[in-house]
Amino acid sequence: MNALPFRLSGPILSPQSPSECTWYPSGTLAIGEHGRILFCGPCDTAPEDIRTLPAITTDDIILPGFVDLHTHLPQYDARGKFGVTLLEWLERFIYPEEERFADEESARDISRRFFRALLQAGTTTAFVYAPVQFRAAWVAFEEAERSRLRVVLGKTQMDRNAPFSLLESTHDSLRDAERLIEAWHRKNGRLFYAVTPRFAPTCTPVLLRRCALLAERHGTFIQTHANESLAEIARVRELFPQASSYLDIYANAGLLCERTIIAHNIHVSDDDLALCERTRCAIAHCPDSNLFLGSGRFPLERYAERDIRIGLGSDVGAGTTLFMPQIMRSMAWVQQRSLHPFIPLYHATAGGAAALGRECDTGTLEKGKCADLVTIRVDGHFSGGKTLEKLSAVEIASAIVYRTQPCDIRSVWVEGERLYEYQDEKR
Ligand code: GUN
Ligand code: ZN
Repeated sequence: MNALPFRLSGPILSPQSPSECTWYPSGTLAIGEHGRILFCGPCDTAPEDIRTLPAITTDDIILPGFVDLHTHLPQYDARGKFGVTLLEWLERFIYPEEERFADEESARDISRRFFRALLQAGTTTAFVYAPVQFRAAWVAFEEAERSRLRVVLGKTQMDRNAPFSLLESTHDSLRDAERLIEAWHRKNGRLFYAVTPRFAPTCTPVLLRRCALLAERHGTFIQTHANESLAEIARVRELFPQASSYLDIYANAGLLCERTIIAHNIHVSDDDLALCERTRCAIAHCPDSNLFLGSGRFPLERYAERDIRIGLGSDVGAGTTLFMPQIMRSMAWVQQRSLHPFIPLYHATAGGAAALGRECDTGTLEKGKCADLVTIRVDGHFSGGKTLEKLSAVEIASAIVYRTQPCDIRSVWVEGERLYEYQDEKR
């Protein structure tokens, strides 16, 4: 492990909002002995005690690590199963894949590869669906801990309308979730639990209600899906005829609060948007998944009129990759217009951290926060011969969002600890 404290010197880009990015072409980031940022700014404004710290110098762009606000660990090997829409895709491809997690060895192997891939993608915080099976969910936590990433995990809960082998009784589902919470929630300051009723069609009203009580009792996060496809919404209407909207079901169960992440929410009524605003739940926008399953277009312009936190999620395996630059690009493609690069970059970093309520710890590179960061190579041909000092924050952000390839992720750090460094295989 690299020794703390030290300073990282190089170009620094840190998104602050969908319209602002801090940009220091020649910057210094000083990291204290507990992995928190002591100073972030132009090199020549660093105080004397910062300038004397041991230095690591880079030409790569230093950015906050990415936040993947919604993804499924047990679907990592099921990416790219194309040709059907959401409900049929779940039945034909996803439930059979999730059944494999009854085997602990498979669960261990896939979990290990999943967290390694997150790290290589430049992600430092991830919000993750774990397998249904208790042992497999436990193994997922062990591998999350081993990865040293910041991870929110929760075992998927279903007590109806799924294959028998994935169903649990309401009682067992809640008991197992509580055992996992007691063991893992808030462990080491990096692991957190999210109570995870999969979505309304596979959960009885009793399970939804008790999930809300469980989350409240332990102060955990909550994650679920809503308003993803039109066929799904029609199914929900049949199953909950008395509900006035999809999110009304979750609101009535007590599941919507400031610690709740709702994935998708694309076919959303004005009433449901108002409910999000009122309850302070946050949205995981998963554009790569929406493109893959043909689910629909996220109405970004309607969200812009409201105070609703939005982060970006890969939603693997409906999303095809954990690589957040591709998810940022997909965000632009679903809008079917040219998107200013600060917008996706914000939602993949600071916006995701704010959606989690963890903006005091991560998401931007600022004094007092944890040094969760990624360094990204921008190829020299991009600049047209200009030096970095001559490039604007918009030009750099544009290169990061629209050009980055997986091999450009050069190093990844959590709390000042270097967890990944790119090795050029040709060397
Ligand atoms: N809705 C319920 N379960 C799932 C899932 O696994 N993936 C997606 N994309 N949507 C869901
Ligand atoms: Zn999902």
